[in-house]
Amino acid sequence: MSQTDNLRRRALEVLPGGSTRSAVWFDPYPFYVASGSGSHIVDVDGRDFLDLTNNLGVLIHGHAHPEVVAAVQNQAALGSCFALPTPSEIDLAELLCERVTGFERVRFINTGSEAVALAIKAARAHTGRTKILKLEGVYHGNYDFAEISNYSSPDNWGNEPVAVATVPGTPQGVLDEVLVTQTNDVDMLQRILAAEGDAIAAVIVDPVPPRCGMTPLNSDFIAALRDLTRAHGCLLIYDEVIAFRFGHSGAQGRWGGDPDLTTLGKIIGGGYPVGAVAGKAEVMEATAKAVSSSGTFTANPITMKAGLASMQALDEAAFEHLETMGERIREGCRQIIERLGAPMQVSGTGSIFSIYFHQRDVVDYRSYHKSAEEVTATERFHQVMLEHNVLIAPTATVFLSTVVDADDEALILEAFEAAATDHVNSTGD
Ligand SMILES: Cc1ncc(COP(=O)(O)O)c(C=O)c1O
Repeated sequence: MSQTDNLRRRALEVLPGGSTRSAVWFDPYPFYVASGSGSHIVDVDGRDFLDLTNNLGVLIHGHAHPEVVAAVQNQAALGSCFALPTPSEIDLAELLCERVTGFERVRFINTGSEAVALAIKAARAHTGRTKILKLEGVYHGNYDFAEISNYSSPDNWGNEPVAVATVPGTPQGVLDEVLVTQTNDVDMLQRILAAEGDAIAAVIVDPVPPRCGMTPLNSDFIAALRDLTRAHGCLLIYDEVIAFRFGHSGAQGRWGGDPDLTTLGKIIGGGYPVGAVAGKAEVMEATAKAVSSSGTFTANPITMKAGLASMQALDEAAFEHLETMGERIREGCRQIIERLGAPMQVSGTGSIFSIYFHQRDVVDYRSYHKSAEEVTATERFHQVMLEHNVLIAPTATVFLSTVVDADDEALILEAFEAAATDHVNSTGD
């Protein structure tokens, strides 16, 4: 019996379903990791994989980056958490405020989901309103209000988006407080705000929504979001928990939007649990008084030091490098698709891309939504990539890191070609 099989058996005895993290599950069950270094991981049975999940977008410099490890080791010897502030929270907040014009104040928290909850509560306190408006199928973590319509489907999504519970037992009161609109649809946004704008505390968007093609919101929609939220007195929240990796000053620095509040997570913690809300001083100061936030591990110096080391290593040149590499790899994949005549496509921006097993345009959640055959093709592609020692996310999404090298790139294209060939053979196209 392999080590993974053995661990799996033990896990089933103590963890419901044998796992605590649904987003990393794949059939029959995931293997267990022993270690990670740079762009590779080794599992408990000694198999080596190129890791293109980077913990779903966290590890922008891959595993165990030497400067991050040194920062953590130094801090661990000095103490891991205190019921007092440490200078490290100021250092990381200063770095963020220096990079992004709209960041004048930062509040740290421990996860992206908590950051979203904090931003929504702040918007409610600031406006005295309770509703939020979000985009259909766009993920913002697991806060009750933010997770509405995360996975709606043709069975329940209606002609125009409606609030659909993600978790059975969601109170009707939660559904009543969430309005849902279509990504990139300016008319629909305008109509909803005209009807309900004075009850809406905030409009929350991901500026590069993964389940809408992993490309930036279109510029008309971004302009409408800013103008209409101002006109109706709602706050605009950008969720850059993932999108902050698209530029030195985040997605807003690159594509605009000038949000009032921004939620952050993932890369800013250097591989340790983190979340943050950043924004204009006026809103941040006023809401910090009204909405207290005091998680036990908030701004712990291990996370703050790891985040600072990681972000300092992520200079303008590193972003350039990620951008060029992402484009080069996507182009390589596209050439393979064309040569094989494979019924699939690669869509993405900068250091992230997704593989879709159809050729329709993906512009919003409805055009993204996968048929049963597409889900099967996605799972099979993921499996064939694994057989070629490349780990991608189960949704067939790739997160690149700065440490992916030329050998890794060659391996990606080799595995991609094998998996795309398998897809062609399995569809009979
Ligand atoms: C855009 C976005 N917002 C929020 C979250 C939630 O972050 P966390 O998993 O740290 O709670 C995620 C997680 O993937 C995310 O992608």
